[in-house]
Amino acid sequence: MKYTRMISLMVFMLLLSSCGKNESGDAEKQAPTPAERVAVLDQGPRAVQTVKLNDSLANRGRVLFDDKSCSDCHTLGEAEMAPDLLGVLDRRTEDWLMMQITQPEWMNEHDPITRQLISDFDLEMIETGVEGADAKALLHFLLRETGNASP
Ligand code: HEC
Repeated sequence: MKYTRMISLMVFMLLLSSCGKNESGDAEKQAPTPAERVAVLDQGPRAVQTVKLNDSLANRGRVLFDDKSCSDCHTLGEAEMAPDLLGVLDRRTEDWLMMQITQPEWMNEHDPITRQLISDFDLEMIETGVEGADAKALLHFLLRETGNASP
């Protein structure tokens, strides 16, 4: 009798502990919310410190800048209808820039910096279909242009 009670107590405790494990395991797997993502997007060193200039990537970025219609709205040297992109790597982090270039609509919905820019310029950036590797190449191009422009 005593023995059976001990067994059932042990089974009960085992169940309890596995329950706990499942709960915390699930919590770790949950994707961060948009608010949690934007909170860290522009934290840390500016992109100018993390992007190490690669000339062939920058050459590819220069072609993409026209081909992907960035130059329809953006200038390098004078802000007109959209933010001037000269020196933009001094202003933002690499992660933030990658998100702005590849997912401007998501940024429009969630990111406070992007929303401020939209109200400053009274214009929203459109989706250009640019993805990871091309966005990186564009950053290298923008970095090289910034370097060329400084005295
Ligand atoms: C239809 C015009 C338009 C096109 C095309 C466009 N942008 Fe933009 N872009 C904007 C506007 C307006 C903003 C600011 C408001 C916003 O973010 O929606 C912006 C914001 C940005 C920013 C952030 C600027 C800052 O000061 O932080 C970057 C970087 C950028 N664009 C890069 C690009 C690149 C690279 C391309 C091409 C793949 C591109 N944009 C295409 C209009 C455009």
